[in-house]
Amino acid sequence: MSAKDFFVVHAGKYGSLPKSELVGSLEATESNFSLKPGTKYLSRFTCELNKAKESIQRVAISHFLCEELIFQRGSVSNLFSFLHKLNLNEGGSFYVRVNRVERAIPPEEVSLLERKVGSILSEKFMKKTNFENPEEIFILHIENDAYALGKFLKYSERKNLKERQNKIKPKFHASMLPPDLSRALVNLARVKKDDIFLDPFCGMGGILLEAELIGARVVGLDFKEKMLRGAKENLVFYGALNYDLIRGDSRFLPVVKATKVATDPPYGRLSPKLKKESLVNLYTRFIANLSGIIKKGGYFAMVYPKGLEVKTLLNENGFHIVSEDEVIVHDKLTRVFLASRKVS
Ligand SMILES: C[S@@+](CC[C@H](N)C(=O)[O-])C[C@H]1O[C@@H](n2cnc3c(N)ncnc32)[C@H](O)[C@@H]1O
Repeated sequence: MSAKDFFVVHAGKYGSLPKSELVGSLEATESNFSLKPGTKYLSRFTCELNKAKESIQRVAISHFLCEELIFQRGSVSNLFSFLHKLNLNEGGSFYVRVNRVERAIPPEEVSLLERKVGSILSEKFMKKTNFENPEEIFILHIENDAYALGKFLKYSERKNLKERQNKIKPKFHASMLPPDLSRALVNLARVKKDDIFLDPFCGMGGILLEAELIGARVVGLDFKEKMLRGAKENLVFYGALNYDLIRGDSRFLPVVKATKVATDPPYGRLSPKLKKESLVNLYTRFIANLSGIIKKGGYFAMVYPKGLEVKTLLNENGFHIVSEDEVIVHDKLTRVFLASRKVS
């Protein structure tokens, strides 16, 4: 099958993380892809259709995948000259939807533009408008300094996350990471079906659940019995079968071998007793132990509060940093998402 051009529309507020998540997912699905320069809200790449679909299906902080028909930097006002050069199959039913971000165009222009593009496509390619059950949906994505026209192909896993929101899980704790960020960590760790996946600070099991849904055999570790009971209840609620939960201290990891590891260790925010110094100590001892657990070539992803020197620790323990993305949570907390690969 030949390669095509695609774009993926990111969810807002996550900086560069959606792109790293998508790359993780493309690599986990063993896609042969090449990235193209994107924008703040778009990742663009060339790939085979089946692999592009398989990859978008696992990501959680992007919205959907489109086959790219037009991409241009600058204002959308020059779209029409490119529309006339477009080459599409004739016939069939369709509609056009504008996806504008950051108020790139005034709201009253949205439906005008949808109608104008729709009438050009309908006339040029003999297509019939159908809003109920169209064969094709064309998305015109507009940003302040770029736009793209694409044929909609597939929603991401983000669409299904409502069912796994923390507040509707049987067990809840204030330290839980939202399911979209848990899934992003799983993608950063390039988790595949049949991987042995470890979360050494598993809490209520949010990351374990996301990895299990991808088909990994998951192992969770936490030093609190109450958390492990909660993790079990949450995993069972969503039908997870391939899991093991172990009570233990991640500074002295028990003998477990894992191909992929992802985690959300304590930040010290909820337990003021955990001062920065002991947090550094916890991370140092945990990462030194991890080095013996994860196989060469395996991936490790983690999230931590900005300001801790985690990259040096990883490098010193044989990990190569693959991606680093900051996400601002509020004035006092910026999270860093790191993906790394064990190289020695
Ligand atoms: C931020 S929470 C993890 C939340 C989890 N990602 C979730 O969504 O439920 C960190 C967890 O690490 C556990 N923990 C802290 N220090 C630990 C240690 N040394 N060994 C194992 N678990 C530890 C805490 O009990 C807590 O459940």
